[in-house]
Amino acid sequence: MPLTLPSEFVTALRTLLPVDVVFLGNEDRVRYGHDETEDLSYPPDVVVRPRTAVEVATVVKLCAQHSVPITPIGGRTGLSGGALCVQGGVGLALDRMDRIVLIDEQNLQVIVEPGVITQTLMDAAAAKGLFYACDPSSKGSCTLGGNIAENAGGPRAVKYGVTRDWVLNLEVVLPSGDVIWTGANTLKNSTGYDLTRLMVGSEGTLGIITKAVLRLIPLPKETRLMLVPFASAAKACEAVSAVFRAGITPSAMEFMERDAIVWTMRFTEGLPAQVSAEPGAYLLIEVDGNHTDVLMRDCETILGVLEAHECGEVLFAETTAEKDALWKLRRSVPVSVKAHSVYKEEDTVVPRFELPRLLAGVKAIGEAYGFSTVCYGHAGDGNLHVNIIKGELSDEFWEHTLPKAIREIFQLTVSLGGTLSGEHGIGLVQRAYMDIAFSPVQLNLMRALKSAFDPQGIMNPGKVLPQ
Ligand code: LAC
Ligand code: ZN
Repeated sequence: MPLTLPSEFVTALRTLLPVDVVFLGNEDRVRYGHDETEDLSYPPDVVVRPRTAVEVATVVKLCAQHSVPITPIGGRTGLSGGALCVQGGVGLALDRMDRIVLIDEQNLQVIVEPGVITQTLMDAAAAKGLFYACDPSSKGSCTLGGNIAENAGGPRAVKYGVTRDWVLNLEVVLPSGDVIWTGANTLKNSTGYDLTRLMVGSEGTLGIITKAVLRLIPLPKETRLMLVPFASAAKACEAVSAVFRAGITPSAMEFMERDAIVWTMRFTEGLPAQVSAEPGAYLLIEVDGNHTDVLMRDCETILGVLEAHECGEVLFAETTAEKDALWKLRRSVPVSVKAHSVYKEEDTVVPRFELPRLLAGVKAIGEAYGFSTVCYGHAGDGNLHVNIIKGELSDEFWEHTLPKAIREIFQLTVSLGGTLSGEHGIGLVQRAYMDIAFSPVQLNLMRALKSAFDPQGIMNPGKVLPQ
């Protein structure tokens, strides 16, 4: 791969940074050139792996001086292409900045660097009886910096909120090279514009996160987990909002239709024998808390609602091993779909009660265009992951006809009061559809914000905002 960087830029990088921070070899560029989005690959011209915010600021300043694009890279588990270096330039991999700086047990807060793996924080918090509840399926390999950049969710968002709800304050290197904190380490803050919330979900287009102060809560002592079969996906989706209306907020309320289960079972050992591929769909429902009797009552209420919605025989996970196996089943769905076929993933989200209409509409669009979908996701949030399967479809259809169908799926989503992405971000692959969710006035406001932060347009160019 040829290098397209100005040679004085490369010389300056090598002069100002330690020798083992700058990587120009093809292997490194390819390794950092993809995330989990489809089969896309956009290698950077150079990979920089800093160890400190000062090194990050040095790189950013150099990029600004030489007008070189810079794209922050986390765990490379993203599903919208946020970390792809579509214009080459610097791929700024933050994997070496992976320290948990401080767990503040007095205030129930933690200070982390962006490269900390999400599961590592969850484990460190749990060791102190504390809980960081944001748990994307990729929690074993995604990083907190990436979670913050994409405003990641996960199964437990339904009770505990998405990443944004856990971030109190951020240290950010701006495109100018200035380093700021966005807010304060307080649970409340009505002081001026909320730069923290703006930065969360900005997908690396406004600055580089180099530290985050996150909220923690006491770790719930107990969970109950049930897998609930339904004859059809429609029936399963209809039951979802009824559970909440009955006064229960589960700590997870996940939906998987049959193919998601069939493709995933072979990746999952230790499943209870009763899990079969017969039902049309399943709900995986968890409740958590500190009191056994309360959890039992919650489960009884949930069962009453589900029976009224014609569920099949409910399987309760009896042991920790069974719980782990059921969660592994759910969390392995994305990799299983990927192993099955090339696919495109849409991250539609609607108000919860509209979920059955969204699912029916997606299936109808698939039938009209002649493609199949596998749907699963965070039903309690109205967040449906629509996986469009390439299978035997032609490249011509995939490239030219499918975008029209995706447009229809998003138009339907927005017409139901929803929007394009619940938790994966817009990144590269959804930006062409932003006009469905936003008017020119709204998009121009976003462009003005982007210019205020990044007048030269060097920070993760080609993402989020449509051309
Ligand atoms: C999940 C990822 C794809 O829910 O968001 O498994
Ligand atoms: Zn998800």
